[in-house]
Amino acid sequence: MYDVYEIRKQFPMLREQKYMQGKPLVFLDNASTTFKPQCVIDAVVKYYSEVTANSHRGDYDLCYNMDVEIEKTRKVIAKFVNCDFKEVVFTSGDTMSLNLIAYSLGRKILKKGDEVVLSYAEHSSDILPWYQVCNEVGAEVKLIPLSEKGELLPENLDKVMSNKTKIVSIANVGNVLAYTANIKGLTAVAHKYGAYMVVDGAQSVPHNKTDFKDWDIDFLTFSAHKMCGPTGIGCMIGKYSILEMMDPFIVGGGNNVTFNTNQQVDYLEPPVKFEAGTLNLAGIMGFKAAVEFIDSIGIENIHKHDQELFDYAIEKLSQLDNVIIYNKEARGGVITFNVKDVFAQDEATLLNSKGIAVRSGQHCAKILNGFLKTPATCRMSTYLYTTKEEIDALVNALKEGGNILDAYFN
Ligand code: ALA
Repeated sequence: MYDVYEIRKQFPMLREQKYMQGKPLVFLDNASTTFKPQCVIDAVVKYYSEVTANSHRGDYDLCYNMDVEIEKTRKVIAKFVNCDFKEVVFTSGDTMSLNLIAYSLGRKILKKGDEVVLSYAEHSSDILPWYQVCNEVGAEVKLIPLSEKGELLPENLDKVMSNKTKIVSIANVGNVLAYTANIKGLTAVAHKYGAYMVVDGAQSVPHNKTDFKDWDIDFLTFSAHKMCGPTGIGCMIGKYSILEMMDPFIVGGGNNVTFNTNQQVDYLEPPVKFEAGTLNLAGIMGFKAAVEFIDSIGIENIHKHDQELFDYAIEKLSQLDNVIIYNKEARGGVITFNVKDVFAQDEATLLNSKGIAVRSGQHCAKILNGFLKTPATCRMSTYLYTTKEEIDALVNALKEGGNILDAYFN
């Protein structure tokens, strides 16, 4: 049985009551980052206090043990998302992963007149790398229109595809509207036109079952810190044959076999080809502990918990006449809302004064505003340790919103 109170005992941020503005902390910004369980903290501390060494660079046990630890982490991640362990490339997180794909793949294959297809719901980390590369080579970014509710539908992808489309890059779950996309259906459309399919899994991998092979996607990106892991570590997963063809984006120590005075370089095979420089080794150890922790709870159970909290919150929030909800049917870990006649950041400030942490503004998804028809929203997001009492605290606080704040707009 899913016992959220038992789960909370494993998190130092939750085990002992924390306070914000002198009020008990209610953390509802988990789409931004998540708390870390003791096992993850212990794994990071273990690297610094017991097993410190660099990897791939020494003929002594400590160094070799670190190589083993890295490969073990690749295998744990590969099993979690169903890919081959050699397809797991460590990066600093989702943003770097998407930049890596844009620069290493985009720059290599995109030519003047080609197209890259994204959606109106994308986070800046899945838009700006493509703008950079497309502007550089003279390619064009096209956007998939969202359905009335805000979903990403295969039939809408089909409408913007053409034989000029070389890459489709979309989030499985957007960070604002958070509908879960039909990735298999979308991938089938992308592949029908011969385009590569990139899936930003930042908001989905921590919450939903991911199946790289079954979905037949070409790339998957995500960060550890949104799934109970450390900051500064994440991965880019790519089909091995594509990784072999791509050039490394960052080069230096650890990713080459040899180079000579004629400027010739022989790079190592993937995934190491893309991992120049000293890796975030403490992060990798924490990442493994985080995936094992999530596995011990079960990703399906986490998803069910998200949905139960979502349904509970929607029922309560729908009873408030002063609250506008933008994604009533998403059934995931995110609810995006506004209090009528109250600017989102004012509302978030009011909630802060009550100890409640939510995100407000544009949430880095700056071209979604046109669809939402509002300049800013508040976003509350849950995770595997969130309780119904925390939802109640938010609902009670929202009841007061419109009465005490100045309205900036109608
Ligand atoms: N991508 C994170 C969010 O949406 C930071 O909040």
